[in-house]
Amino acid sequence: MAENIVEIQDLHFAYGDLQILRGLSLSIPRGQVVGILGGSGCGKSTLLKLIGGQLRPSSGSVKVDGKDVHALSADELYALRLDMGMMFQSSGLFSDLSVYDNVAFPIAENFHLPEELLRRLVMMKLHAVGLRGARDMMPGDLSGGMTRRVALARAIATDPKLMMYDEPFAGLDPISLNQIVGLIRELNSALGLTSIVVTYDVQEALKVSDYVYVICDGVVLGRGTSEEVARSEDPYLKQFLNALPDGPVRFHFPGPELAEDLNLAPVLRDKA
Ligand SMILES: Nc1ncnc2c1ncn2[C@@H]1O[C@H](COP(=O)(O)OP(=O)(O)O)[C@@H](O)[C@H]1O
Ligand SMILES: [Mg+2]
Repeated sequence: MAENIVEIQDLHFAYGDLQILRGLSLSIPRGQVVGILGGSGCGKSTLLKLIGGQLRPSSGSVKVDGKDVHALSADELYALRLDMGMMFQSSGLFSDLSVYDNVAFPIAENFHLPEELLRRLVMMKLHAVGLRGARDMMPGDLSGGMTRRVALARAIATDPKLMMYDEPFAGLDPISLNQIVGLIRELNSALGLTSIVVTYDVQEALKVSDYVYVICDGVVLGRGTSEEVARSEDPYLKQFLNALPDGPVRFHFPGPELAEDLNLAPVLRDKA
């Protein structure tokens, strides 16, 4: 068994002319919670879709559990996807199904189980996220934090080996947020998972992760344990981690000098 459950090598990807990944390489060791940090729009969700085989890179490779995701047949990819759980920011719950049925759905779709066994499985998953008591509620009646926890129960329903979380902290109140941080860590060790947590939220990423990658401009900008990354003296990392508006990554998009754009007379330019 390979030590790394995910290995990504020199990955390039573009949406048409919009280049997103420019030679990204990283590996995810088994058993860890690994944070992938990066600003909005830098390609984090895209990266998860490349790992899940929903998108195809222009070059480079993604291996999950030793298998080259983009060289698999449709059947092989489908089987591999059963090993990957995914929790999206927008939960993706079926709004006309109860909490119970939302969690039962992926199990029933993939395995033919007697009703009683299915019920026990669903109850165990709901118990794991503290929501057994909410089984009969409808998604529309849940708070933001509960919605995210149901989505989590559904993502672990088929016992994946690898869990991927896309912005699991976005828009949560502080208590729900800490519950999600705790759940990600607890489930990772209790279920023997490996977890990838993709987020722009620096503080939470450092809290939840054993190891962190910071990505920017389509490559890995920095990496290390949460402690190493938090202490880093690298100017790019410091700008990102401290959310400084200006630094090596400029606030101003490259363009002509302001004085030129304002058509100031040369005598005024020095003052602009
Ligand atoms: N299907 C798509 N077609 C074209 N551009 C896209 C598509 N999906 C995302 N993008 C663009 O690609 C960039 C990266 O998107 P995304 O991976 O969602 O970033 P992140 O998750 O880091 O915020 C963004 O600029 C986004 O607007
Ligand atoms: Mg995203």
